[in-house]
Amino acid sequence: MKRFMLAVLLVLAIAPGCGRTDKENVSGLPPGSEATIAVATDIHYLAPELSSDSEYFLGLISSADGKQTNYIEEIGDALVAEVIGLKPQALVLTGDLTYNGEKRSHEKLAQKLKAVLDAGIPVFVIPGNHDINNFNARSYATGAPGWTRRVTPEEFAKIYRDLGYGAARSRDEQSLSYCVALTPDLWLLMLDTCVYKDNNVSNPSDASGELGEETLAWLDNQLKEANLQGAKAITATHHNLFSHNRLFSSYAVKNGGQVAEVLASHGVPVNLSGHIHVQNIASQEVKNRTIYDIATSSLAVYTNQYGVLKVGSQLEYQSKELNMEAWATANGIADPNLLNFEAYSYKFFGNAGSGGFIERIKSLGISQEEAALAANAINEINARYFSGTLPIYRDEIMKSEGYKLLTNTGSFGGAYVDSLMNGPFMDNGRLVVDLGN
Ligand SMILES: [Fe+2]
Repeated sequence: MKRFMLAVLLVLAIAPGCGRTDKENVSGLPPGSEATIAVATDIHYLAPELSSDSEYFLGLISSADGKQTNYIEEIGDALVAEVIGLKPQALVLTGDLTYNGEKRSHEKLAQKLKAVLDAGIPVFVIPGNHDINNFNARSYATGAPGWTRRVTPEEFAKIYRDLGYGAARSRDEQSLSYCVALTPDLWLLMLDTCVYKDNNVSNPSDASGELGEETLAWLDNQLKEANLQGAKAITATHHNLFSHNRLFSSYAVKNGGQVAEVLASHGVPVNLSGHIHVQNIASQEVKNRTIYDIATSSLAVYTNQYGVLKVGSQLEYQSKELNMEAWATANGIADPNLLNFEAYSYKFFGNAGSGGFIERIKSLGISQEEAALAANAINEINARYFSGTLPIYRDEIMKSEGYKLLTNTGSFGGAYVDSLMNGPFMDNGRLVVDLGN
């Protein structure tokens, strides 16, 4: 009888959603199982008590990088509902969890994600460059920015104890990197590439990324152990492992080449990243292996998507648009922006991206109507590039009157448009890699 009781207690201790997990098998799946991982990034969540509908704040987000911060509460809720419906073995968030590292935003996001944990789905987070020791943390509750608390690395690990750090089979002592065994034969290396230690009032938030020497050695050891135990491994970083556009090389980890060599040495085929806010898949040949960096686009930005990764005998990644319309309908929400979110989000993103564009192009001596057509073309290029679907729309865009005007004006669009329209082109929303089993 006692032996039976002990067996029942052990089963309860390792079952998902029971508050305690087996650190050598967080999902509880048997070896050899296919695991599904949902991955979202750059949510840039802002706690409702730090936000407002003030003219100042709406003006700020409307002229920035297209983050739909005015609906971030709803976007977060829709993600939680969709992930619970999808029932993956894990939800991975690759940083920029918050708008600008506000402590209150971290706490509120962790609370929101508890619903995913309660549904028996483990959540693993790492920080992005906006999340820790960020001197730009502000409250917009009363309109103009006011002071609010930021977080230290220690506070970050404490807030997200149940969302990664508590389930780690190993933690790096020099950073917020950790390793989890999702199944006995699939390990996730959650790597902290952020540089936040020297942030100060003059340099409030260092956006660069690197993996320190000690962390690199820790990663090498973890991957050696994974190999010894016959486990596959994938890594996740906030910054991109490789550059995804020759004009945006600063988005990549500074020593990405060194990191990729370690991954190649241990047969790690894929890194998951964010940061650039663009849906893009880059690859490099390293030590006779192809290493892929899958950058999922920002959940806060058109087309508000995340990725679904299946890892079994092959690895299959597919991007997926958040269905805000279905979520709003299911929740009886009457807001027309949410009920037509795809169109609303496209327009919001376009307006943010083309700020000042029409004025600048008018100076080239074309009419207001022609300037509007050219602005439409650049909005379309931006929206499709950020969504990873530019290869599908490229020919249609090139035939448009607006694009012809853009190219005819010579300087306009320039190197940026060229870098997008001239490829290389691949399906940036889908990747299948044979894992050789
Ligand atoms: Fe971001």
